[in-house]
Amino acid sequence: MSKPPSKKFAAYPRLNPFGIGKNISAADLIDQSMLAYNGGRLREAAQLLTRKMLPDDGYIGMSLTGALTPAGLGKSCLIPLMKAGFIDWIVSTGANLYHDLHFGLDMQLHSGTPFLDDVALHRDGVIRIYDVLFDYNVLLDTDAFVREVIQGPEFQRPMGTDEFHYLLGKYVVARQKTLGIKDSSVLATAYSCGIPIFTSSPGDSSIGMNVAAMALRDSKLMFDVNRDVNQTAAIVYHAKSTGHTSSVFILGGGSPKNFMLQTEPQIQEVMGIQEKGHDYFLQCTDARPDTGGLSGATPAEAVSWGKVDPDKLPDSVVCYTDSTIALPLLTAYMTARVKPRKLKRLYDQRDVILDRVKARYLATGTVAKVVTSRKIAKRASSVGLKG
Ligand SMILES: NC(=O)c1ccc[n+]([C@@H]2O[C@H](COP(=O)([O-])OP(=O)(O)OC[C@H]3O[C@@H](n4cnc5c(N)ncnc54)[C@H](O)[C@@H]3O)[C@@H](O)[C@H]2O)c1
Repeated sequence: MSKPPSKKFAAYPRLNPFGIGKNISAADLIDQSMLAYNGGRLREAAQLLTRKMLPDDGYIGMSLTGALTPAGLGKSCLIPLMKAGFIDWIVSTGANLYHDLHFGLDMQLHSGTPFLDDVALHRDGVIRIYDVLFDYNVLLDTDAFVREVIQGPEFQRPMGTDEFHYLLGKYVVARQKTLGIKDSSVLATAYSCGIPIFTSSPGDSSIGMNVAAMALRDSKLMFDVNRDVNQTAAIVYHAKSTGHTSSVFILGGGSPKNFMLQTEPQIQEVMGIQEKGHDYFLQCTDARPDTGGLSGATPAEAVSWGKVDPDKLPDSVVCYTDSTIALPLLTAYMTARVKPRKLKRLYDQRDVILDRVKARYLATGTVAKVVTSRKIAKRASSVGLKG
C-alpha cells in the first residue's frame, strides 16, 4: 500500500505515469505520460486550452510564424481548428498565407530531406524549405494567381489585411470548387468561417511582393495598417467588454506575436481605456528570453507592459518545442476533449466592432498624456519631479 502524500507536496500530484499501451489516444498520451519538462508544459498547454481558454465562448487569437503551412499544418491542424470554432482570429506572417495558396490551388509539395545539394536543386528548379521540396513553378504559378486575382475591381483601393485576405480567400474557394477539392486552404476556410486574418508585415512575403509589383502597373491596392492596428484592438475590446476572456495562442514568435499582444497596450496606454490585459497566454516556441527579443519574451515580461492580466500570470504556459510537434498534438487534444463551438464570425462584424472601440476612445481618450490608474505609472511619472 502506498504512503499518503506528505503535506509539503500536497499541491503537486505524484509523478506516476501509466505504461503506454498500443491503443492509447493522443489526448490520453498527453494527459498520462507528458509529466515533466517541455512534455509537462505541453500537457499544461493542452489543459489550459481546453479548461480555460475554450470554455464560456472565450475569444482565441492565434499567431502564426515559422514555416507551418509548407509543412502541411494548415490542412492537418489549422483548418480543423478553425472549422471547430476553436480559433476566432489570426495574425500570420505573409509567408504562411502565401504557402497556404499552394494547397488551395492543389499544387504539389513533397516530404524530402534537408541533406541535399542546394546548388543542384537550384539548377533543377527545386525549392527547399528545410526538408520540404517543391518545383519552382509552384512559386511562379502562385504569384500569377495572386496578380490575376488582385487585378479585379474589388481590390482597387486601400483596405485592411483582414479584408484583403477575406477577398483572396473568396477566390481560393472558387478555385477549389473548379478543382473539386475542399478543406485544403487556411485562407479559404477563413473566408467560409468569417475568421479575420491579419498580417503584421504585409510587405514581407511573396504576397506583398506581388501586390507591390502590381502597384507599378495601375493597381490601387494598398494595405491600411492603421485599420489593422485598431481592428485587432477592437476585437480584444469587444471580447472583454462583452464579458468574455481574451486568449493568445502563439506559435513561434516574431512580428505576429507582438501584433497580437500589442492590442492591450493599444487599448490601455494609447486609447486610455481601462483594461487589464489578455486573460490567457500560451506560446510554443524555440526562442529564448535572455536575448531581450520579443519572440522569446515571457508572459511575465508581457505583464509589465499591460499585455497580460497580472492576476492570470500563473495560468500562462510557454512550451519550448517545435510547433510542428506541438500543434498536431494540441489539435488532437482539443478535438478529443472539447465539442465544436459556434463560429463567432468576427469578420462579418468588423465595422460594428471597430465603431464600438472608436466611440469609447473618442469619449475617454486624449491627445495629451493618458491618465492611468496603474500605480506603477504614477510612481514613474513622479520620479524626478520632487528633486
Ligand atoms: N516566400 C515568402 O513569402 C516568405 C518565405 C519565408 C519567410 N517570409 C517572411 O519572412 C518573415 C519571417 O518569417 P518566419 O516566420 O519564417 O521567421 P522567423 O524566423 O522570424 O520566426 C519567428 C519566430 O518563430 C520561431 N519559430 C520558427 N519556426 C518555429 C517552429 N517550427 N517551432 C517553434 N518556433 C518557431 C523562431 O525561432 C522565431 O522566434 C515573415 O514576414 C514572412 O512572411 C516570406
